Amino acid sequence: MTRYPRLATKVDARSDAFAANRTANLASLAAVESALDKACAGGGAKYIDRFRAAGKLLPRERVELLLDPGAHFLELCPLAGHDVKDHHTGASVIGGVGVVAGVECLICASEATVKGGAVSELGVQKTARLAEVADQNGLPTINLIESAGADLPNQSKIFVPGGRGFRDLTRKSKARLPTICLVFGSSTAGGAYIPGMSDYTVMVRERAQVYLAGPPLVKMATGEESDHESLGGAEMHSRVSGVSDYLAEDDADAIRIGREIVAHLDWAKQGRTPLPVEPPAFDPDELLGVVSHDPKVPFDAREVIARVVDGSRFSEFKPLYGSTLVCGWAHVHGYPVGVLANNGILFSESANKGAQFIQLCNQRDIPLLFLQNITGFMVGARYEAEGIIKNGAKMINAVSNSTVPAITIMMGASYGAGNYAMCGRAYEPRFLFSWPNHKIAVMGGKQLAGVLEIIRREAAEKSGQAVDEQNLQLVKMMIEHQIDQESSAMFATARLWDDGIIDPRDTRDVVGICLSTCHTERVVGTTSWGVFRH
Ligand code: COA
Repeated sequence: MTRYPRLATKVDARSDAFAANRTANLASLAAVESALDKACAGGGAKYIDRFRAAGKLLPRERVELLLDPGAHFLELCPLAGHDVKDHHTGASVIGGVGVVAGVECLICASEATVKGGAVSELGVQKTARLAEVADQNGLPTINLIESAGADLPNQSKIFVPGGRGFRDLTRKSKARLPTICLVFGSSTAGGAYIPGMSDYTVMVRERAQVYLAGPPLVKMATGEESDHESLGGAEMHSRVSGVSDYLAEDDADAIRIGREIVAHLDWAKQGRTPLPVEPPAFDPDELLGVVSHDPKVPFDAREVIARVVDGSRFSEFKPLYGSTLVCGWAHVHGYPVGVLANNGILFSESANKGAQFIQLCNQRDIPLLFLQNITGFMVGARYEAEGIIKNGAKMINAVSNSTVPAITIMMGASYGAGNYAMCGRAYEPRFLFSWPNHKIAVMGGKQLAGVLEIIRREAAEKSGQAVDEQNLQLVKMMIEHQIDQESSAMFATARLWDDGIIDPRDTRDVVGICLSTCHTERVVGTTSWGVFRH
């Protein structure tokens, strides 16, 4: 195996700055942990007790039992809906990539201890994101369903976008991506179409009840008297209607059958197999001290790379040119990656270098790893004349048309078009995770408030009115505060702008799981691009 040169470190782990970063990053992580605890607590003790009394497994227990013992489960978007009106932390869905019968699968489970598993607005978005992960990476899907359908008081926000989920199920089937549905409890309306549209459906005897409308609604609509079991019980669907393919005795039996179905798929990976893994030479634990908690304080991206990649080995490309973008090749958990990491503002040279590097990785079928910490492209007359727009556009062209998988880690700031060039959410990286210190916005709160102040002063001058200084300062302060609030990693993750906030120390393992998932299918680069403006 060819060995890349080993990076060196200049970090002083005994410095005050290191200690201050570590303390601040740990504090942010503690806030993330406490939000995760909320997600894990489901709808609370009252509803959990009901599950237990009925002899049912809790939704997270179902997921755990489904997974191969000791195998990984990369939970996605666990804090969707956190502190968002009308939502529960997790958006009533538990989802991620996990290994079932030796196969990496997309798992999506109703959090039925919250509003009977009713689907919320962000729950629809989260389910759509999970479906996208299965599509893009060629994974089988396992749905663990117990859902009261639409969150009724909020139906207007769900009804139209919710339809996409059923469309996706049948399109997956057409694309030969199987969907397996295990039904554990009452599943009404939308909850009934998931088993209805799946390739394989398993229902639990005397617990799974699947119908378009429950007995009260049927009575209201047609006057017909019915009971839950005869209307939509697992027994009836397995013996009479054919909506269920397998009748399970209880929750554990349904999971056993689900695992058996996956085992029989013979789902073989098409992508490259990893090389032997070498741990980093520098301790990933040091990332908490290396990485500035304050986005205004720069840190050297090579110090991060050294604590993420195999053996801290990195073959840097064009190290003397466009130095604010560090590019180079490395391995993570044995998989080759092309790393693009910000080391300051993007200039024309760095953008051109990035575009060239993305083309090279595509030539070599190598996935991209973006380490994003960007305050934007350089502004000013000199840089405009140099063509910062067209050079930035080249990089955005390369990112947009690249066909190798990309993984993006938000390791600090993400402001302006730098977000786009560095493969932000809109550029469809296969996975995007944030660190707790991450900040994201069009621009920083101070800058945005300052721009608004200038515009207001100019408008007042034009209309010949005096500026109310006190009011202007108050508005400026309020806007700055609002933008800062809306720029935090917690705000972003609650709205599904990422796939979750991770502990920086776990980055290497998370990227490794993502790369393994991406290699379910063969990685194929492109040589076809949009027009590059020269
Ligand atoms: N939207 C919003 N909230 C819902 C809901 C829905 N579709 N279904 C249930 N909930 C709420 C209930 O109001 C209740 O809230 P509360 O505890 O604050 O009062 C909580 O979820 C639990 O429901 P509950 O009926 O007490 O639980 P259960 O275990 O006895 O029954 C269901 C669960 C799903 C069988 C039952 O709630 C039900 O039939 N829901 C309506 C299903 C439906 O008709 N959906 C159509 C969607 S188009």
